[in-house]
Amino acid sequence: MTPQFETDRLLLRPLQLSDAPATQRLFPRWEIVKYLARRVPWPYPENGALTYYRDVALPAVARSEEWHWGIHLKDGPEHLIGAISLMKTENDNRGFWLGLPWHGRGIVPEASVPINDYWFDVLNFAVLRTSKAIANQASRRISEKNGMRVIATEEREYVSGKLAAETWEITAEQWRRLRKK
Ligand SMILES: CC(C)(COP(=O)(O)OP(=O)(O)OC[C@H]1O[C@@H](n2cnc3c(N)ncnc32)[C@H](O)[C@@H]1OP(=O)(O)O)[C@@H](O)C(=O)NCCC(=O)NCCS
Repeated sequence: MTPQFETDRLLLRPLQLSDAPATQRLFPRWEIVKYLARRVPWPYPENGALTYYRDVALPAVARSEEWHWGIHLKDGPEHLIGAISLMKTENDNRGFWLGLPWHGRGIVPEASVPINDYWFDVLNFAVLRTSKAIANQASRRISEKNGMRVIATEEREYVSGKLAAETWEITAEQWRRLRKK
């Protein structure tokens, strides 16, 4: 069972099929998808969120290969405003997106703290790696704030085409040291 987390401003609730309509309303925006992996369909189909949750994300959760949370504000917990995920995928263990009205308020950095704790302290992985387009400055800032460092660069396929990408990494020991500060 994926646990729920609470931070100062947020509730992170295990993703459910009933989160699909809110996702469908917020997610299909060019500013959100342009630096996501090419496998995200674009133009986004009308049932895109439902089929992704039902056929891909939730079955991967059931197989203990992925963990997905909906991001909710505590002062409006009925509304999903984004999502954050962990996955065993090689060199790409965490993903997130946030609805446009909530960008730039430090919400995903706040959400990433209990999610990183869960990866290291409960799932017991020794290293967290994420991959992102170098052009995705907002996402790179989150990796920086998380104390991660670049370990590799390569080209990858994104919704907006082939782009230079970086793999970022932090070890369990580095994360725990950072958290004690
Ligand atoms: C990446 C994302 C989740 C950031 O979440 P957030 O909660 O808005 O993050 P923050 O509020 O900490 O903002 C990110 C940082 O990037 C900066 N930033 C935001 N938009 C930016 C932009 N377009 N260009 C450059 N910097 C930007 C912010 O100022 C902030 O930096 P600061 O802390 O130095 O001020 C959000 O932009 C998003 O949903 N992007 C689309 C999906 C995506 O790219 N996911 C990641 C795939 S690897």
